[in-house]
Amino acid sequence: MELDVFEKKPHEVETDVLGLFLHQDEDIPYRFKTLDNKLNNQITKAIENENFKGELNETFAIPSLGNLPADEVLLVGIGKKKEYETDNIRQASATALQYAKSVDSKKFSIYIGTLFSVDTFSQFAVEGAVLGNYKFDKYINLEDENEEKEIEELQVACPGKLKKIKKAAEKGKILAEATNYTRNLQDLPANVATPKYLAKEAKNLSDLDNVKVEILSKSGLKKKNMNLILAVSSGSGKEPKTAIMEYKGGKKGPIVLVGKGVTFDAGGLDIKPTSAMNNMHYDKCGAMAVFGIMKAAAELELPIHLIGITPLTENLTGADAQKPRDIVESHSGKTIEVKNTDAEGRLIMADSLSYSEKYDPEAVIDMATLTGSCIKALGYVAAGLLGNNKEFLSKVKDAAEQTSEKVWELPLWDEYREQMDSDVADVKNIGEEHAGTSTAAAFLEKFVPEHVKWAHLDIAGTAYVEKMKNPKPYASSGATGFGVRLVTQVLEDW
Ligand code: BES
Ligand code: ZN
Ligand code: ZN
Repeated sequence: MELDVFEKKPHEVETDVLGLFLHQDEDIPYRFKTLDNKLNNQITKAIENENFKGELNETFAIPSLGNLPADEVLLVGIGKKKEYETDNIRQASATALQYAKSVDSKKFSIYIGTLFSVDTFSQFAVEGAVLGNYKFDKYINLEDENEEKEIEELQVACPGKLKKIKKAAEKGKILAEATNYTRNLQDLPANVATPKYLAKEAKNLSDLDNVKVEILSKSGLKKKNMNLILAVSSGSGKEPKTAIMEYKGGKKGPIVLVGKGVTFDAGGLDIKPTSAMNNMHYDKCGAMAVFGIMKAAAELELPIHLIGITPLTENLTGADAQKPRDIVESHSGKTIEVKNTDAEGRLIMADSLSYSEKYDPEAVIDMATLTGSCIKALGYVAAGLLGNNKEFLSKVKDAAEQTSEKVWELPLWDEYREQMDSDVADVKNIGEEHAGTSTAAAFLEKFVPEHVKWAHLDIAGTAYVEKMKNPKPYASSGATGFGVRLVTQVLEDW
């Protein structure tokens, strides 16, 4: 989908579907008056007759019947003004794009009025449209007649301030495309997206300016004593990898991102029941989000030094699989009692976290579909946020506000830390029955380099959409790419 940004009046835009965003309980804004006249005042009438109320994501289509260069005008509700959230623009924009697709449009246009800061409006409208355009359909053999339902051009039309609006629109496009790139990798099935396949994907990121990628294979992991990822992968016929991506865009940082990349989590010998194993191809979502953040940071040319480390492995039950009560020496030197082989994410993350020390990072952010408990606590609505530095966590919360990717802080107290003590090793990999998200974070914390600010995002509930009621129209099925926009915002605000 190409992006074209230009200055025109609403009634001058030549397109298939022209989306106009309107508040609930609001008269037709002055800027749409001429357009409305040309449509025989159908917008005014729709509002007066309450055929269109402006509720969030409500739509009302008006065919122009040759009275305008646009074939159709689509009114899209963005809700009441006082309840107004910037995210409504993303949602309404996705809704409008999906309507345009459903009527086989090639060109879809958004009109940027003067609702509020035009650059934010423009960025969020483009984000919504590009995110709303995502669909994981590469394995569906489409009938000929369905094949052309692709929007070719996304137009952003505005009454002025072109330079500002264009820049913001392009930023929205980069962020949403990086998110869609991540979603596509996340949605891939485990038979395709193996550690080797994803390592190759990571390698491709070195095509970006100022990005270098190194892949550690089994021998490299052995040499570096990354014994926890080796232990987790030992039940799989496929070799583990760890991708290390480095973007040198400027002096800020370095900041290290670590993402869990379990390409399939069967649980290991502590095997999951069928219902819980369903969707475990999504256990690589944290790592794929890190890929997308590297891409976004490089394309936005952020003035920062960023390192992404993503351990990639399966967690299966093969003949050499690790067993409960195994004791493994980690990369950090600490010994781990593997009490439960299904708590594998924290094991592979531990090696990557302690490996990050060599970069002398200013901060570390990790992302992982780590615990079912996080879904119990927060549902599918927010990611769990834990860490060791209040100020840093509040930065992450600020970024979450801006990107509408919700996070909620969960506690990390000594009572949880104590639960990780083992009778036979330095640490064990599970705590008591409850508060699993906090005990998992307490485990990870032991491997974060000393005196380094650290934030942990448990994205088990937010990485993909399955059971959520009323999902947002820009993330309505499958992988969400959660965290790509959020963490990129943290980096931008650094
Ligand atoms: N990958 C799972 C966590 C998960 C569950 C992600 C549901 C997405 C949806 C993780 O490896 C796991 O199995 N965690 C266990 C930990 C337990 C054994 C301490 C869990 O949450 O049950
Ligand atoms: Zn597991
Ligand atoms: Zn897992």
